[in-house]
Amino acid sequence: METPLYSTHNQSVYEPSEDSFLFLDALEKDLKLIKNVKPTICLEIGVGSGIITTALSKHLGSSNSYFIGTDINPQAGLACYETFRLNQLANSPQIVLTDLIESLSYRLRSNVDLIVFNPPYVPTEDSEIESDDLLTKSWAGGINGRRVIDRFCSSVSQVLATNGLLYLLLSKENQPDEVIEILKEYNINLDEIVIERKCRNEHLLILRFKKKASS
Ligand SMILES: C[S@@+](CC[C@H](N)C(=O)[O-])C[C@H]1O[C@@H](n2cnc3c(N)ncnc32)[C@H](O)[C@@H]1O
Repeated sequence: METPLYSTHNQSVYEPSEDSFLFLDALEKDLKLIKNVKPTICLEIGVGSGIITTALSKHLGSSNSYFIGTDINPQAGLACYETFRLNQLANSPQIVLTDLIESLSYRLRSNVDLIVFNPPYVPTEDSEIESDDLLTKSWAGGINGRRVIDRFCSSVSQVLATNGLLYLLLSKENQPDEVIEILKEYNINLDEIVIERKCRNEHLLILRFKKKASS
């Protein structure tokens, strides 16, 4: 998908990088499939600048789909609204400041048709994710880059609808096979590795998962 216009003024928000652009490429590749699902409720965890949610909204139409974004960084919420405004989209997403989906999980229970997450995935010391610096928290993933990803995996099934789609970015260092196995325990199965790319010293993948009905 074409990168939406975004402002680079806000230095405390994650600036779109190779991972963000890879995400847009993956969604473009899957656009037909996503449109066929006719997602009514779309959720992006960790919206940052908002370029992913904005691009999705542009392609899906904000009158057909309702967009919700979360982040722990209040500045990200503002940046996302600004990105929507710059791209002249009428209906802004609903931004909720919360840890992952914590404050939404009860209300959104099994109702979200499409979830996208470009998480903090870079392997670091665990102490880095406890940092007070919100910019550090946007990329620092702790041991194996998995601290936030693993918490996400154990909560996402609460809100993902049956047959709902999940797009998750991982790096090879996150040990994707393990993440796939963890999500499987929650009835969320790997559909396809939509795209993968070596970006400098990282090997990034975007995986598409689907939630199957519980047996
Ligand atoms: C790698 S950045 C991605 C930003 C944007 N989605 C993009 O692709 O450019 C990760 C984002 O997740 C947010 N984040 C980090 N930990 C989070 C958490 N526990 N709950 C919600 N958002 C979180 C960060 O503030 C940051 O905006």
